[in-house]
Amino acid sequence: TKRIFSGIQPTGSVHLGNYFGAIWRWVELQNSNEAVLCSIADLHSITLPQNPQKLRENTLLMTATLIACGIDYKRSILFQQSKVSMHTELCWILSSITTMARLAHLPQFKEKSESLKNVPLGLYIYPVLQAADILLATHVPVGQDQAQHIQLAQDLVQIFNRQFGQTFPIPHTLINGPSQRIKSLRDPAKKMSKSHTDFKSRLNLLDEPDELLEKVKKAVTDFTSEVTYDPEKRPGIANLINIHSLFTGQTTEKICEEAVGLNTGQYKLKLADIVIEKLSPIRKDILRLTREPAYLDEVLKEGTERATELATSCWTEVTEKVFGNDIQ
Ligand code: TYM
Repeated sequence: TKRIFSGIQPTGSVHLGNYFGAIWRWVELQNSNEAVLCSIADLHSITLPQNPQKLRENTLLMTATLIACGIDYKRSILFQQSKVSMHTELCWILSSITTMARLAHLPQFKEKSESLKNVPLGLYIYPVLQAADILLATHVPVGQDQAQHIQLAQDLVQIFNRQFGQTFPIPHTLINGPSQRIKSLRDPAKKMSKSHTDFKSRLNLLDEPDELLEKVKKAVTDFTSEVTYDPEKRPGIANLINIHSLFTGQTTEKICEEAVGLNTGQYKLKLADIVIEKLSPIRKDILRLTREPAYLDEVLKEGTERATELATSCWTEVTEKVFGNDIQ
């Protein structure tokens, strides 16, 4: 049977990159009756400084966001990573079969540590914890930026299985079409990212309609006024068309056909309408749910119980393989 696992850090604002690259696809998989585990990766978040109370709020906000986007906590397992301690324990075991050289080359570590004078160890072993997360998974839907982390997990599964005997399945990466990499609205050479300093570079699920309109209007395109789809030569407008296509399900050809006669400025207004129409109900739902923290807590508790149960089911096997069987 398939077991699908993915995670997201509890940062306040979910942007369209997170939405299309990850959440939206989890919902699709869930709705086609796959077993989906969604982890709110707070252990990953603390590798950079966090205000504890804010982190707690953001964990609940992420829970609300996932539910508002269509994660059904009865069918899927929605849980808080730090509450399932086996992830951390397994991370320790895996860290003993990982080389430092292998981790040093991972691009996300390089990116995040570049600007820091003192680099936390947690940031370095971050991908090992991510590997520990997904060891029971068969499939991992993520955006392109996580591909190398999943590759590491695949390597570690192989090393573990070779050293201790067949234990874990090799996790397959599910990365898919244009949703795998939504670009920054200010610089289409870069991905849309929550760490980008220019807030106009991303569309957030919680943005007000007039903010969405403003950001789409200001999206960097080029000096050609027609609306044509050419991701290589015209990455800015292609990114907008991709977003349009993901929201409406129309092909990029169809979208360009319908935009004949519009210049890019007029097309942006049309796209802004669609974005606003699609995001407004989600935004309202998120805000409604955040007013029910007790409910959100209950959801997480239930998910954590079920995730713990799954992790426990293989834990004895892992510890016996690594530390030997008890005598008697
Ligand atoms: P995080 O929280 O940075 O991002 C969550 C998901 O959003 C995807 N994503 C994008 N996809 C397309 N275009 C973009 N511009 C874009 N920006 C972000 C990411 O690829 C990701 O799928 N380490 C992980 C969380 C994690 C995890 C896991 C993921 C913890 N354990 C186990 C998978 C499996 C992270 O920081 O994601």
